[in-house]
Amino acid sequence: MFTGIDLSSDTATRPSIAMKTAMMNALLGDEQRSEDPTTLQLEKLVADMFGFECALFLPSATMANEIAITTLCNPGEVLLASESCHLFLAECGGPAVHARVLCRPIPTETGIFTPDDIAHYNYWLKGYHHPKLKLIGIENTTNFGGGIPWSKHELNAVVEYAKKMDIHLHLDGSRIFNASTRTKLSVKEICTGFDMVTVCLSKGLGCPTGALLIVNKKHYSTVRHLKHLMGGAMRQSGILAAAGIYALENNISRLQEDHLNAASFAEKLSQFNSHIKVVNQSPETNIVLFDWISNQISLDEFNNQCLKNKVRFSQIGKNRFRAVTHLDVTRDDILTAIKVIKSFL
Ligand SMILES: Cc1ncc(COP(=O)(O)O)c(C=O)c1O
Repeated sequence: MFTGIDLSSDTATRPSIAMKTAMMNALLGDEQRSEDPTTLQLEKLVADMFGFECALFLPSATMANEIAITTLCNPGEVLLASESCHLFLAECGGPAVHARVLCRPIPTETGIFTPDDIAHYNYWLKGYHHPKLKLIGIENTTNFGGGIPWSKHELNAVVEYAKKMDIHLHLDGSRIFNASTRTKLSVKEICTGFDMVTVCLSKGLGCPTGALLIVNKKHYSTVRHLKHLMGGAMRQSGILAAAGIYALENNISRLQEDHLNAASFAEKLSQFNSHIKVVNQSPETNIVLFDWISNQISLDEFNNQCLKNKVRFSQIGKNRFRAVTHLDVTRDDILTAIKVIKSFL
């Protein structure tokens, strides 16, 4: 078990005592038979919050994404999304395995794209000969793009284009509350026009696990069936749903703190500019990307020294690292992490 300052991911958080108390006190039933009252309560809370008709509690955001793609796309049809999205890079090829779709990655450094980028793939794909572009996946915020939230203008442009071209839209909103905090758009505003939305409870919100797929009634029986097919139907899942309810009620308003910590980390990291290039000098949310550019110290040595001193980042490219701030990282932890780096550079 890693016990130091874990900047590798915002999934590193552990439930607080208050969250565990809420879990212990949860009313429980059989979720597989739709009899778990706490799971039903969480699903209703989330559906209302996002302005959709239903929400489905699932073990992970990966499962939510895969169910969405399998529902919205037929085998052989095209799923278009950013080349650096979680759907393509970190779901074990799930879109190809579960939905048997053709994945077409859009080259984009930030994870944000425009109708022009989509048109590039769409305009000539006409006639019986070509696979049909059926689904666009948007990640908000963009994880490997550096935690960037889509602006309302950028979202509107893609939503309008997709509607015009009769293309479905899925939103991987694993960090949608970070997006909402930064842009000051409500989650309802962010989700307008999407067919389905994934929301994750175990990242910025600090739950041990859990995600929801948000849908409208017309898709409910299909997504519910796929949940059972994939082995995601649970029993007394209220113990996990209670953590989700606690998180939604208590942990959204503090996300700004994580964003300020990320900004402070990026600013302080810039002092090591002969070894490190900060990719997003002014991070918009809780993710800082930096490249190891030193020709004096190797990347492995940097990584090992950090780990030896109990500071952890995740490597997400040949020379690229990601630092993610979260509920279990304080401002003092940021200062300590910088001190550790300074001690060997
Ligand atoms: C953007 C994004 N989508 C989906 C996931 C998958 O989440 P889970 O670990 O709950 O499957 C992650 C996990 O880090 C993520 O960053």
